[in-house]
Amino acid sequence: MSTTENPTGHESTQDQAPEHFEDPGLPYHRPRRADVDPKAANKAERQVAALFGLSILGTILAIGAYFTIDMTEEIDSIRFANMMIGLGIFLAMMGIGLGAIHWAKTLMRDHEMVEERHELRSSDEGREGAIQNLKDGVEDSGLGGTSRRGLLKGSLITAVALAPLSLLVPQLGNMGADWNTSKFAHTMWRQGMRLTRDPDGTPIKAADVTIGSAFHVIPDGLNELESHMLEEKAKAVVLLIRLDPRDLKIQEGREDWSFDGIVAYSKICTHVGCPVALYEQQTHHLLCPCHQSTFDVADGAKVVFGPAKRPLPQLPIAVDDEGYIVAQSDFHEPIGPSYWSRLKDTSDGLSNDTEGGH
Ligand code: FES
Repeated sequence: MSTTENPTGHESTQDQAPEHFEDPGLPYHRPRRADVDPKAANKAERQVAALFGLSILGTILAIGAYFTIDMTEEIDSIRFANMMIGLGIFLAMMGIGLGAIHWAKTLMRDHEMVEERHELRSSDEGREGAIQNLKDGVEDSGLGGTSRRGLLKGSLITAVALAPLSLLVPQLGNMGADWNTSKFAHTMWRQGMRLTRDPDGTPIKAADVTIGSAFHVIPDGLNELESHMLEEKAKAVVLLIRLDPRDLKIQEGREDWSFDGIVAYSKICTHVGCPVALYEQQTHHLLCPCHQSTFDVADGAKVVFGPAKRPLPQLPIAVDDEGYIVAQSDFHEPIGPSYWSRLKDTSDGLSNDTEGGH
């Protein structure tokens, strides 16, 4: 039987485990630079205070951006304001986090401690021990009454006190205009505007739309817009679908919104705004690929599955003298996700007219 010498110096046979391992003890303690060099400690203290200062600046940035950047009509200014608020919140949280980590790694006391396992039973002795541990922890952290790190304490307390304010900014109110009354509730669609193919912008005749076909549609003139073309497109995109008129359940009040089985619905999902673009001919279902909300085109684009809470808004259409499909008006309700406040909330969600509707 072969024998080997293990690292502890004991001989053991290969098929026989040693009876016990010797406690290797704690590794050699290496003091950090800040433990032995007061200059390094002061430098680390300034770095931690700077990180807490960064957090304070982040909070000021978030609050300042909310109150100073105009978030009324222009999407660019809303985008800029949201970016600044987000950046401010990020800096506010990151500054505290990195400051705390740097503090713990460089300045808090760095001595190894061993705590023996004890019975899980509360006793006066145990309670006193816990309180003493807590006090020791506070002293180790440099936050205790005997600590001379006033700069750190001051910057930490200020940063921690201010940081929650940055999180309150998004709760303060409307993050970008009044959705019900501003132009965000409107799209380009107007009475008599032709429905055209996306992306080339060629108009669509009713005769071109065969039963079962689906067209991706943009408003006539969209491609000629000199500014905000993408924003307008994002709001106005529509799916045009022709069903057998016998399959179509006409909704009350919408008797003249379709033409011979041709219906047009907003392509923007009412859950969180993905394009709803998967059409299943046999079932007449439109599927949103993001979270699988499913809308029944034959029945007012009502939600039959998934997290969306209201039907896709319908665009009223007609046919002009030349046989082209045109809009009768804009949508009668805001398109897209339903996170803005709605003046009226109906049980089936079909007539959520707002001040922004037509
Ligand atoms: Fe359509 Fe979520 S965005 S289901």
